Amino acid sequence: KTYKVAIVGATGAVGREMLRCIFQFHFPFESIKLLASARSAGKVVEYEGHEFVVEELTENSFEGIEVAFWSAGGSISEKYMPYAVKAGCVNIDNTSHFRMDPDVPLVVPEVNGYALKDHKGIIANPNCTTIQMVSALNRLDEYFDIERIIVSTYQAVSGAGVAGMEELYRQSQEVLDGKEPVAKTLPCASDKKHFPIAFNCIPQVDKFDLDNHFTKEEMKMVNETKKIFNKDIKVNATCVRVPVLRGHSESVYIETKKPIDIDKVFELLSNSPGVELYDDIENQVYPMATLFIGDELVHVGRVRKDLDNDHALSLWVVADQLMKGAAYNSVDIGLKMIELGLL
Ligand code: A2P
Repeated sequence: KTYKVAIVGATGAVGREMLRCIFQFHFPFESIKLLASARSAGKVVEYEGHEFVVEELTENSFEGIEVAFWSAGGSISEKYMPYAVKAGCVNIDNTSHFRMDPDVPLVVPEVNGYALKDHKGIIANPNCTTIQMVSALNRLDEYFDIERIIVSTYQAVSGAGVAGMEELYRQSQEVLDGKEPVAKTLPCASDKKHFPIAFNCIPQVDKFDLDNHFTKEEMKMVNETKKIFNKDIKVNATCVRVPVLRGHSESVYIETKKPIDIDKVFELLSNSPGVELYDDIENQVYPMATLFIGDELVHVGRVRKDLDNDHALSLWVVADQLMKGAAYNSVDIGLKMIELGLL
């Protein structure tokens, strides 16, 4: 069977990768409809000999569409997805809007693909930072039983969309030209102040929760990890934007119920689906964001047992967040649903 597919937010940083992933990972499509705002209507997108004309997203865009991949922002999903569900379309949503809804499975296929069977027309794709962390930790959790995670992220500007990338390019040139860099988007387009990302690190991704002093991005890691692992795992996150164009890195520290057996850790990481163990310190082999642009795997290195705590381990986790953290995971959810007979 082939499917009538739509991509919502098709002109964005993630939407473009969604189109690429549909082709690259052979999602069986009969047709692909590209949807974006009125600004983009009529634009022609060419891919592998196909020409697609971008259409404006409306309430009526989903007649006859069987599967839609969404990445146009939470408010767009909130407003338009009910029409898609009503039209009988299965929706795989990359925005944060429905993620914590108890009726919506939050899925990383190799970790909790089983949760897909309970879907009611909407499946949420977790936050990019959560996806790569839980994918890297899944087999370790099964074996060692993780009790607590402490994570710091080093997040690329493309997480803030096309505008984030343009801002890093432009500000870098402004600094090189001896000018003051002008900040318009980061750390968060909808917050009051903006700071330069060129030659800088910004310890704010998304807006603050003024009640608990964490950012929304940090709370996504806290809450989504519990939902995906389906247990009350403790998570403490610090999310930082760094001047990297593409690919998120994470320093992850875990505390486990069972004591760490480092040989077993390496064996488990070597056999984790979706994960590449990339760790050979004698030869300075460790993952770096620029090594894996456009790649769909989660790369793990710098794996080492804690020096003082027998029940703790550190690792460095890198993934292209537009791919594994967004577009690839979404398309992989669709493929998993086909495999499970759910589409
Ligand atoms: P457009 O390019 O027409 O603005 P990014 O996160 O990379 O900035 O991409 C956001 C995506 O969401 C783009 O494809 C953008 O389309 C789309 N989008 C933004 N606002 C709307 C809207 N009101 N209706 C439909 N699509 C939208």
